[in-house]
Amino acid sequence: MGVDVGMRTLFGQPKITERPNPAQHATETDLSETERQLAGRLMRINHAGEVAAQGLYQGQALTARLPHIRQQMERAALEENDHLDWCEKRARELGTHVSILNPLWYTGSAAIGALAGLAGDKWSLGFVAETEKQVVKHLEEHLTQLPEHDDKSRAILEQMKEDESHHATVALEAGGAELPEPVKKLMGLTSKIMTRTAFWW
Ligand SMILES: [Fe+2]
Ligand SMILES: [Fe+2]
Repeated sequence: MGVDVGMRTLFGQPKITERPNPAQHATETDLSETERQLAGRLMRINHAGEVAAQGLYQGQALTARLPHIRQQMERAALEENDHLDWCEKRARELGTHVSILNPLWYTGSAAIGALAGLAGDKWSLGFVAETEKQVVKHLEEHLTQLPEHDDKSRAILEQMKEDESHHATVALEAGGAELPEPVKKLMGLTSKIMTRTAFWW
């Protein structure tokens, strides 16, 4: 099952929720070539981040010891698929491709998620919560970098920000522990490498 989810995430059509695409009601505005390129790159980074989020949630689910914890996290994992879908559509609308390194982001995150899971549920949930918090900060940055009038991309990132913040709360309420500061720093560093790389590839 884990392999199936991985293959769908990378190459197929992942299972999404009933929620509509937030960009659906935003109007497409005229973007200059430079703006379109920048927005496309930012959406590619966000897509790569969502691929990594899938890996993380899968790794977490593989090692979760308590079945009710797995269930609680399932909805969050499904919402990550919405994000994946919205970001990919938007990146393509902006005329760009998704990151060619997605398989690497996915397997890397799944491995990290599973490792965190081996340390116990409270640590793997803490890891999910911290990841989500860092993603919220990252999305805030992207919202300031996106072309002002790219309403479609904005609508997607706004909804994602709201979801990620909710996912962090869910993981904490399920029993996630606060991670040690050096681990948080290391996570920030890893995501920087990923976002810088996905900007180009
Ligand atoms: Fe997400
Ligand atoms: Fe999330």
